[in-house]
Amino acid sequence: MITPTADPSAGEPSGAAPGPGERPIVEPSADDLAPGLEVEVDVGPVAHGGHCVARYDGRVIFVRLALPGERVIVKITEARRGSFCRGEAVWVLRADPRRVEAPCGHFRPDGCGGCDFQHAQADLQRELKGFVVAEQLQRLAGVERAVTVEPLPGDGFGWRTRVRWALDAGGRIGPRRVRSHRVEAVNAAGPCLIAAPGLTELAGSIDIPTGVRRAVRPAATAQPDGRTPRARRSRSTAGGLPEVTLTAAGDGTLTAVWAGADAPVVTEHAAGRDFSVAADGFWQVHAAAAQTLSQAVADALEGIELAGGTGWDLYGGVGLFAEILCRAVGTAGSVIMVETDPAACELAVTNLTRHPQAAVRQGRVDEVIGEIDSSVDAVVLDPPRSGAGPSMCAAIAARAPAVIVYVACDPAALGRDTAALAGSGYRLDTLRAFDAFPQTHHVECVARFLPA
Ligand SMILES: C[S@@+](CC[C@H](N)C(=O)[O-])C[C@H]1O[C@@H](n2cnc3c(N)ncnc32)[C@H](O)[C@@H]1O
Repeated sequence: MITPTADPSAGEPSGAAPGPGERPIVEPSADDLAPGLEVEVDVGPVAHGGHCVARYDGRVIFVRLALPGERVIVKITEARRGSFCRGEAVWVLRADPRRVEAPCGHFRPDGCGGCDFQHAQADLQRELKGFVVAEQLQRLAGVERAVTVEPLPGDGFGWRTRVRWALDAGGRIGPRRVRSHRVEAVNAAGPCLIAAPGLTELAGSIDIPTGVRRAVRPAATAQPDGRTPRARRSRSTAGGLPEVTLTAAGDGTLTAVWAGADAPVVTEHAAGRDFSVAADGFWQVHAAAAQTLSQAVADALEGIELAGGTGWDLYGGVGLFAEILCRAVGTAGSVIMVETDPAACELAVTNLTRHPQAAVRQGRVDEVIGEIDSSVDAVVLDPPRSGAGPSMCAAIAARAPAVIVYVACDPAALGRDTAALAGSGYRLDTLRAFDAFPQTHHVECVARFLPA
C-alpha cells in the first residue's frame, strides 16, 4: 500500500507528479508490476547505468532519480516478463541528506536522458561512480580496489563541448528523452545546462537544410511495456530523426554539422599544443578532459624506460595519446597509431608531423596489429564503450609490452578487459578515475597494467 510518511527531510517530488495523497491505494504483486504502476520501495546500492537497485517483493527494479538509502515511490516504466523492471522515483519519502534540487528543468521523470545524477551533490556523484567502478572490477575481474573519482576543473556545468542532438517532426532540436528516441527540446528558456556556453543558442538558430527536414520521420513512441521499439539505427537517423553535432571548440568556434555533411576542421588544445580535429569527429567532450587524460597517460608511462623504444596508440583518434608516446620514446624510438576513421587518420598525420618517429595506420586494430611484426614496449589503448575485448587483449599481451595503459570510458568494459588481461599475464597496477562527465553516470578511468 502506498502510505507515505510525513518526513521533514523528504525531498521535493521530481517533476510534476501528483502528491502521494492523490495516488490510488494499490499494492500489486511483484509479478503484476507493469508500466504506469507506482509502488513504494527502499532504494539499495547504485548500479552501473545511472540507476539504483531496489527490490519489490523480491523483484529487482532499477530506479532512476533515486539515491541509495532513500525511500521513494517509483513509477514503473518497463517490466520485463519474469525478470527485472525499470522505474523512476516520482516522490521521495526519505531523502539522502546530500540530495539537491536538480537545477535543470529537463531533469525529471520521462525527461532528458542525458543526465542521471543532477539530484546529488557533486561529491556524492563521484562516490557513486567510484562505487560502480570498484564493483565492476570486483564482479568482472575479481579485483578488490577502492576507487576515488577525481574532479575535473569547473563547476560541473557547461563542460560538454560536443553534443549530438536530434531534430523532430515539430522542428525541435535537443537530446533524446530517457530510453526513447523522442526529443527533449532545448531552447534559450530551457537550455541544456551541461552543454558548453553557446550550444543551446546555436541549436535554436541553425539552418535546417530542406533535405534534413524531409528526412524527419515521426518519432518512435514507447510500446505498452514501456520499451522503445528497436528502430533502424544509423548515425544520421537514429529513431528516424536526423542528428546534428554541435561543437564548441577550444579555438572559440561554434559549429553545427548535420550527419552526412562535410565538417570543418577546428583546433583543440591539450598537452601543451594544438590538435586539428573534425568538428564532428572524436575529441574528449569535457573541456578539460583531453588535458587531464593526456597527463594521466604520461604519468602512467612514468618509471618505465621507454627512450628509444616502441609504442602503440590504439584507437588513436587524431593522435592525442600518440603525442604522449612520441615524447616518451623520443626521436630514436617509434610510435604506431591505429584508428579506423579515415578523416581522423588524415588529421593525425598532420598533428604528428613534428614527430618523425610516428606512423599512422588506418584500419581496425585487430587487423592492423596482426600485420605488424615488431614487438612493442608500451601500448596505450582507448577503445569505444564496448571495450577492446578478450582477443584484442590477448593479442596485445602476446607482444609482451612493459606497460599497457588503458583509457576506459565504461567501467564494465574495463572490468571485462581487466579479467582478459589478467588471463594473459597482466595485472592491474595503478588506477585513476576522473569525473569527466559530471551530472551523468559516466566516468573515465586510466588503468596501468604491468606484467604479472
Ligand atoms: C574513445 S575514442 C579515442 C580517441 C583518442 N584516443 C582520443 O582520446 O582522442 C575511440 C576511437 O577509436 C576508433 N575506433 C573504434 N573502433 C575501432 C577499431 N576497431 N579499430 C580502430 N579504431 C577504432 C574511433 O573511431 C575513435 O576515434
